[in-house]
Amino acid sequence: MPGSLVLIGGEPGIGKSTLLLQASALAAENNKTVAYISGEESINQVKLRAERLNISGKGVYFLSESNLAAVLECLESLRAQQSNLLVVIDSIQTMYLEDVAGTPGSIAQVRESTLRLEHWAKQNNVPILITGHVTKEGAIAGPGTLEHIVDVVLYFEGEPFSSYRVLRSVKNRFGSTNEVGIFEMGNSGLIEVDNPSQIFLSAYREGTIGSVVVPTLEGSRPLLVEIQALTTTNSFGPPRRIANGVDFNRLLLIAAVLTKRAGLKLFNQDIIVNVTGGLRINEPAVDLGIASAIASSFHDSKPISRLAVLGEVGLNGELRGVPHVERRIAEAIRLGFKSCLMPKLPPVIASEVKQSLNDANIQLIEASSVAEALRLGLSKSK
Ligand SMILES: Nc1ncnc2c1ncn2[C@@H]1O[C@H](COP(=O)(O)OP(=O)(O)O)[C@@H](O)[C@H]1O
Ligand SMILES: [Mg+2]
Repeated sequence: MPGSLVLIGGEPGIGKSTLLLQASALAAENNKTVAYISGEESINQVKLRAERLNISGKGVYFLSESNLAAVLECLESLRAQQSNLLVVIDSIQTMYLEDVAGTPGSIAQVRESTLRLEHWAKQNNVPILITGHVTKEGAIAGPGTLEHIVDVVLYFEGEPFSSYRVLRSVKNRFGSTNEVGIFEMGNSGLIEVDNPSQIFLSAYREGTIGSVVVPTLEGSRPLLVEIQALTTTNSFGPPRRIANGVDFNRLLLIAAVLTKRAGLKLFNQDIIVNVTGGLRINEPAVDLGIASAIASSFHDSKPISRLAVLGEVGLNGELRGVPHVERRIAEAIRLGFKSCLMPKLPPVIASEVKQSLNDANIQLIEASSVAEALRLGLSKSK
């Protein structure tokens, strides 16, 4: 959008510079002139990356500079020659203004630099993409303080050990925040993943204890992922809970509900929950999947054959509905799942869902509580 300021936040090393260099090349192919300004890398470093990504650099101007006044001066003169400009600033934390107190990366510098860029973008009707580092603990003088200044905030996420990356929108003045991009980081850069469910389930083995498949939504896109849990007795210290890819507090809540409402004695159990593929899922719709994986490991019993699990868990052990049930089930059907363990649907929605699924070959196993769901979803024998 002309004149817009877009912030792409993410942990260091996640691939922001790679993404923006690839995006710059694509924009240049589409008749934009790109000004790529890096305060972090020298021209040689960026050239090496461009070569690795197979980017010729045609239509992309590069400047290694962190003095924002000098950057803006440069952009002014480029703007006078080129009408169809796109600007990339990598990263906002490296930019500084001499007339502002504080070192680069301090809140005052980052805020003021962003304000100047936003002013320049609006005045010249040129879109600017800026990157910002966030730390695991949250933002230190980072994107958090900038979110209300910019028009669009995108987060680039993924576990460092995994090659998958998700680009998620958290604020968008011009469109929906419901879209996500899913990419794989390889030697030659980021490649869009066409069939993410298949990839995230590629290592899934049917009938594995402690392993459950959940149809989650990434934006508006359904995505099947595998949740694994392992419980082990720990008689020596306080029990530990480790959550990889799911919210830690959510795990505590689910463990408490399982103990109190489903009779699982987890007080002396270490619990580890893992989302495979390095994805992070934050929606409550995966609660029952987490609960089932923990119960499966604890009882040493497999989930029933070809089962997908969805549902939110309440503090009383009740199951709650989740949005877009049909879309999730349709994805499960597409990948060959034969039954879906889920909350009882209100009659109106139930008939709608059944209608939209037509005569699809899937059994809907409805349960009203976690305890009932575990009875229905896990095999009796080992
Ligand atoms: N020579 C290389 N071959 C393959 N992947 C690389 C290479 N160099 C860097 N990468 C990948 O690129 C990532 C760094 O991406 P980068 O765009 O610089 O991240 P950011 O800008 O978010 O700090 C590394 O974590 C690594 O996964
Ligand atoms: Mg970078």
